[in-house]
Amino acid sequence: STPTTSCLAAAGHDVVGVDVDRHKLDLVGQGRSPIREPGLDELLGRMVAEKRIRVTDDTAAAVGECARSLICVGPPSRRNGSLESGFLERVIEKIGQALATTSAYHVVAVRSTLLPGVLAGTLVPLLEKASGRRVGDTLGVCVNPEFLREGSAIRDFERPPFTVVGSSDAKAADALLAAYAHLDAPVHRVLPDEASMVKYASNNFHAIKVAFANEIGAVCRQLGIDGQRVMTVFCEDRELNISPRYLRPGFGFGGSCLPKDLRAMVYVAKEHDLATPLLGSILPSNDHHIQRVVDTVLEMGKKRVALLGLSFKVGSDDLRESPFVRLAEGLIGKGVPLHVYDPDVTIGNVFGRNKAYVEEHLPHVAQLIADDLQQTLDAVDVVIVGKKVAGIDALPELLRSQHTVIDLVGIPALGDVLRPWASMGAVLPSATGLAPVGS
Ligand SMILES: NC(=O)c1ccc[n+]([C@@H]2O[C@H](COP(=O)([O-])OP(=O)(O)OC[C@H]3O[C@@H](n4cnc5c(N)ncnc54)[C@H](O)[C@@H]3O)[C@@H](O)[C@H]2O)c1
Repeated sequence: STPTTSCLAAAGHDVVGVDVDRHKLDLVGQGRSPIREPGLDELLGRMVAEKRIRVTDDTAAAVGECARSLICVGPPSRRNGSLESGFLERVIEKIGQALATTSAYHVVAVRSTLLPGVLAGTLVPLLEKASGRRVGDTLGVCVNPEFLREGSAIRDFERPPFTVVGSSDAKAADALLAAYAHLDAPVHRVLPDEASMVKYASNNFHAIKVAFANEIGAVCRQLGIDGQRVMTVFCEDRELNISPRYLRPGFGFGGSCLPKDLRAMVYVAKEHDLATPLLGSILPSNDHHIQRVVDTVLEMGKKRVALLGLSFKVGSDDLRESPFVRLAEGLIGKGVPLHVYDPDVTIGNVFGRNKAYVEEHLPHVAQLIADDLQQTLDAVDVVIVGKKVAGIDALPELLRSQHTVIDLVGIPALGDVLRPWASMGAVLPSATGLAPVGS
């Protein structure tokens, strides 16, 4: 990556650029950028003139004189979406062979966008075999994705949103981060696969944003509405629209507005013969997510289950289109003995369409709901934390070793024991040996 090479040199590092492409090497060696990128020709020219950048096609020689190797080769994408990892494998083997001839500490960082699992599953074994070293004392590996956009690569390098390093250990992260010491950006030290997923989540999200804006724009155009103005106002909402809200893995959405409004928009689009596959896929995606929780419980073997939360959100007794009612339906439909605890819902006080909805979907709801959390827990093996219901802070003390917790919200009160799972719509099997707090 010529921008990365140039920016690292500008930060005061001596950089050796390695490539198999002779033409590219010749250009860079003359201080001329092989890609069109604002400011790059000037920066690269200066760095080459100051002898901060040298180029070679000899990987071994370059590795031998450096403390860090940053891999930026681009694995080509196959038609089915899988990636050809042969390029990366060849580079890592070459680096390994070079390291076999020295003993100094070296850190290998993959800047290329890397699928989770590839580092540990493919690249580390190749590196260890070729170098005769084990990752640890003298060898570190990192996944260190780039967040550069073509067209503003230099600016993006100098002002990144953050630096994310997924490393084999702290020593590897420290050794790599020394290269970025000049950057004024938060540093996130994570696991290698987490770093990979941050990059994929970012690019997938950017793609979703573009497709979303275009589908809304297409509907607007069809209806004679100014889509630019609509989205400009939309973006002004930094509370719910452009914000971290709704961007944590957890449970599905529901309630009386989101499903209804999605159905309405997809219907309007269809009426105008407009394809809006992104909008059309959201309710099916939500259904799959609810089903995933049912399947997780079924995999545990039809144990007795407590569902903490029934109305669609805290402080509301609205049961219409509540994803928890759907979850309860799914579990009961599969014969799972279910107990429900939700202090927001007093069945005797549920009226009108709310009542009609719950009677249609959970006809025996009154028999399922208990008003005592401890009694509910005593009667079950699996606890699904659906909502931050009142009294949830006491949960850690109330759990016993028989309980398996499926935490769909990431309850802070469950503490560090659950946290590693919490972000994934957590499952904490007591069988992991990590007994729930307080048991
Ligand atoms: N282009 C971007 O703006 C950008 C931004 C962020 C992340 N990325 C990621 O960075 C990676 C690289 O992207 P790119 O656009 O720079 O790709 P690219 O194809 O322009 O550059 C890759 C270079 O690697 C060289 N190469 C291939 N095999 C080699 C080997 N065995 N030894 C040495 N060099 C070898 C190629 O000759 C080529 O010059 C990709 O994974 C991409 O997803 C790119």
